[in-house]
Amino acid sequence: MARRLATRTLLLLSCSQEGSLRILRASTEVCRGSLPPFSPAGSALEAARQLVGPKVTKKKDGEFEGGEFWEAHEELLKRAWQEHGPLHADLYSFGPNFERRYLTSKLRAAARLAREEGSEEAAKGLFEEILPGVFASEDLFTEAFRKDVLEELDRINSAGIPTRRPNGMNRYGVILDQVGFEEALNGLVGAYIKPLGGMLFPELVGDHDADEHYAFTVKYEPSGDTELAKHGDASVVTLNLCLGPATWKGGALRFFASGGSGIYALPKGNASAGSGDVNFQPGQVLLHRGQHKHQALPLLSGQRANLIIWLHAEHGVVRVAPYPPEQQLMAKQRWQQMPRLKLDL
Ligand SMILES: [Fe+2]
Repeated sequence: MARRLATRTLLLLSCSQEGSLRILRASTEVCRGSLPPFSPAGSALEAARQLVGPKVTKKKDGEFEGGEFWEAHEELLKRAWQEHGPLHADLYSFGPNFERRYLTSKLRAAARLAREEGSEEAAKGLFEEILPGVFASEDLFTEAFRKDVLEELDRINSAGIPTRRPNGMNRYGVILDQVGFEEALNGLVGAYIKPLGGMLFPELVGDHDADEHYAFTVKYEPSGDTELAKHGDASVVTLNLCLGPATWKGGALRFFASGGSGIYALPKGNASAGSGDVNFQPGQVLLHRGQHKHQALPLLSGQRANLIIWLHAEHGVVRVAPYPPEQQLMAKQRWQQMPRLKLDL
């Protein structure tokens, strides 16, 4: 699913005055005539390293900043990242090795129980609802996942290949599907993240409301982005994993009560999506509704990086009207939709 995002469209975050979101679709017709010449050896990597990416300045509505550059060089950059290759090969391919190294045994066992017996008791036990509508877990990803992702990001950032800003508000980070993680993320999302999102938010995730995803990292540090204005995400459900790397001060994630209104009102109104601050810990994952408004408070020192996955339907459609209980999926429907994989538990 994400292949189309990577090659044809790009869903990007935009923030209006009040922080409401819209999804924008950037046409990425490749202007092949503008590609730079390849080296005699045909090295896309060498050609990409000669490119100078556009400046990144806007802190909102920046989704199309430098858009022509990225559209013109999309194919070249894709080939360059393929040539660049991985540091941790397991990160780039979803399968038994990925699951064993990067997902906790608790998560794998809980998912197996849900698939085979339709019981989500263990999966729900992985989470604590730390604010109304905000579910936290430190039992999804291993420490090796954070370590390998951070090392891979360092290598990507020092590759000499231009990387596009992750969304219209964050200026620093990496769009993961554009640097080779597409296959792994498709597997991870289909087998684990989509059913977990549906389990926690059954009123918004039906058969096809989370068929696609958009995944990126963001980085906060005093010399770059230090905060993010109040906004909602272009997603039905958002997964936000704190990568670390170590210590920082400030930078809490603040949530605002936003239970919707009219036909978009959540079943329990604002009691379903409450307010409060979350002080991230490395390894902590949050799952929340994309329309649950939030902001990143100023980071005072240190550095914090997060890996974020937005779930949405085909063509970037984000469901905002809740399903009535009789139309919501059952547990087995959620977990058995995912591709059948040979699991090595
Ligand atoms: Fe967000």
